[in-house]
Amino acid sequence: MRSRTVASAATAGLVALALAACGGTTQTGDTGNANAPTTALQTKAGGAGGDVGVFTWWAAGSEKQGLDALIKLFQEKYPNNKFVNLAVAGGAGSNAKAKLASDLQNNQPPDSFQGHAGAELMDYIDKGQIEPVNDVINALGGDKVFPKDLLDRLTVDGNIYSVPSNIHRANVVWANVAVLKKAGINEVPKDIKGWIADMDKVKASGVDTPLAVSGTWTQVQLFETVLIADLGAEAYSGLFDGKTAWDSDGVKQAVADYKKLLSYANTASDGDDWPVAIDLVISGKAAYNVMGDWALAQFNEKGKKQDQDWTWFPTPGTDGVFDFLADSFTLPKGAKNPGGAKDWLMLIGSAEGQKAFNLAKGSIPARTDIPASDFPPYQQAAMKSFKDDTIVSSIAHGAAVSLAWNADISTAISKFYVSKNETQLVSDLVAAQKKNAG
Ligand code: GAL
Repeated sequence: MRSRTVASAATAGLVALALAACGGTTQTGDTGNANAPTTALQTKAGGAGGDVGVFTWWAAGSEKQGLDALIKLFQEKYPNNKFVNLAVAGGAGSNAKAKLASDLQNNQPPDSFQGHAGAELMDYIDKGQIEPVNDVINALGGDKVFPKDLLDRLTVDGNIYSVPSNIHRANVVWANVAVLKKAGINEVPKDIKGWIADMDKVKASGVDTPLAVSGTWTQVQLFETVLIADLGAEAYSGLFDGKTAWDSDGVKQAVADYKKLLSYANTASDGDDWPVAIDLVISGKAAYNVMGDWALAQFNEKGKKQDQDWTWFPTPGTDGVFDFLADSFTLPKGAKNPGGAKDWLMLIGSAEGQKAFNLAKGSIPARTDIPASDFPPYQQAAMKSFKDDTIVSSIAHGAAVSLAWNADISTAISKFYVSKNETQLVSDLVAAQKKNAG
């Protein structure tokens, strides 16, 4: 990627300074980059005042609960500000991203919007649509409170353009305990082959569609986890920097395995959102769904308990790998209320904001200074994996590839869902890489 230059000197230079108390002026550390803003973050007691329009795709169900937790704190901490909820429904930003692109294009930016750390943010940076927020990151504590790995993924030529609110894991299988029990399955399969053998057992026990899938982006996510399983972490990461060919044997194997997996799945339509698939697991119409750990919030919302009702494991063959994505909030160029936007960024980056949000959302805090013991078992396990595992970037959620590349992969996967033509999918993936890789 052109400018995901990790200015390690710059990140190392992030100096942690005390978080400004309400009404104070927060001093920033030296980012070590000549272009980086060096001014101290100015904050005003009770907030800058005025409307603060925040754009996300957390519009409904369990996702809205995460956002609502943040809104509540924002109103408490910044009573001068009025939160304006600009959420557009549709998981993974399936509808939101087009609306956002046109608002940005028409110079009608929100005051802050949700984007994914990594390649997706590059799109906005390259188009000059977002501003550096080094002052906010520094005021929050810089690399004293955010993992270096994550700051590296957010740093472009020495500048940081967003504040991460959370980290999600994408390579998780969510499974119905009673369905597995009935099928006589009591071990986690080691690889895709073992998983397919288990699907046969589930089918034999009377469940016609052991695997739940939903609309196209959920299929892209399932496919990416099969790529990780069949290629391994290193070769998977090589798909994005040209070291692994998209028509290599590993990719062909993944395409074949993915096709086989789909033969165990329900029929989904393009626009089906992710809760539909999790609900199939909850009702026992399916045994499994591969979904990011926002699924946890859905189980919680439906009153379903870990180990009793549902269980989880990394997509078979990906144990020891954390397929990563992080939601991250920006300061758009031309935002009407940059002061209010920075209040929002300070809130989502604060320990209090991250705890409230992530408890509701199923993700883990991006900050490292929030005790794991404050979280339930699934999230404790995710925190441990994020620390110990090999981290790779999600395709479906903007960490590994640009918006345009993701769109081309999605079109290829959507075509494949109908045609099941393996040769065609491989050649579409090769073409997408050729067209979009920088
Ligand atoms: C991802 C996002 C998550 C979650 C998910 C489903 O792209 O990062 O926070 O919202 O989509 O909508």
